[in-house]
Amino acid sequence: MPLDIWSETEDFLSLLLCPPDADLERAVRVSDQENLPPISVSALQGKQISLLASIAGASRILEVGSLAGYSALWLAKALPPDGRMVTIENNPVHAAVAAGNIRAAGLADRVEVRVGNAAEQLALLVEENVEPFDFFFIDADQHNNAIYFESCLQLGRSGSVIVIDNAVRSGEVCNVDTPNAAVRATQRVLELVGSAEHVDGVVFQTIGKRGHDGMLVTRIR
Ligand SMILES: C[S@@+](CC[C@H](N)C(=O)[O-])C[C@H]1O[C@@H](n2cnc3c(N)ncnc32)[C@H](O)[C@@H]1O
Repeated sequence: MPLDIWSETEDFLSLLLCPPDADLERAVRVSDQENLPPISVSALQGKQISLLASIAGASRILEVGSLAGYSALWLAKALPPDGRMVTIENNPVHAAVAAGNIRAAGLADRVEVRVGNAAEQLALLVEENVEPFDFFFIDADQHNNAIYFESCLQLGRSGSVIVIDNAVRSGEVCNVDTPNAAVRATQRVLELVGSAEHVDGVVFQTIGKRGHDGMLVTRIR
């Protein structure tokens, strides 16, 4: 696998397309200091979802899986000043680090970190009948992706964009006999998207530092 050239290319592109940002750099630093796992999106991936949110004209964003708030910061920076974002995290340590990084970036007025199990929190938001979200980023425990996707469909509106990370996993997604529950969940979402009339989608395959993967980008019709 030519990981070196993928990684070098990602560094080159990040240097050109992701200008230094003190808030994002702090988030990475604090995440390391607090020993959180290094499993956030890369800078280039952060820019990809941030740009997608901008293209979608998103003023309400929902994220599943905050970790240290790195992708949340990328997304929050795409919001207009009166925009709102909710990010859901079940690990209280991760949630506290995320909230700290969001506060330090001066974005606490528009980003709410909800601490709790994502399926439960999403069900609560449905119950609360909140204003529809324009953009969703799902990046938590992947074996629950199908549940999260269904909830996001309920929390969106016509035109809302739902993005799911890690949709390819080195091509394992093609293995119809995979024993991996995370991959099976993604396969279920792909089947749903491929057959549903009310949602359209495609996978953007990615190669880079984190190997071969992809983002499933869908839109409610
Ligand atoms: C891959 S990390 C998220 C990375 C983050 N989106 C970023 O790129 O900066 C996944 C996060 O989801 C959280 N998580 C896992 N299962 C969850 C669940 N059932 N409900 C809520 N959060 C969960 C984990 O604690 C972890 O912080």
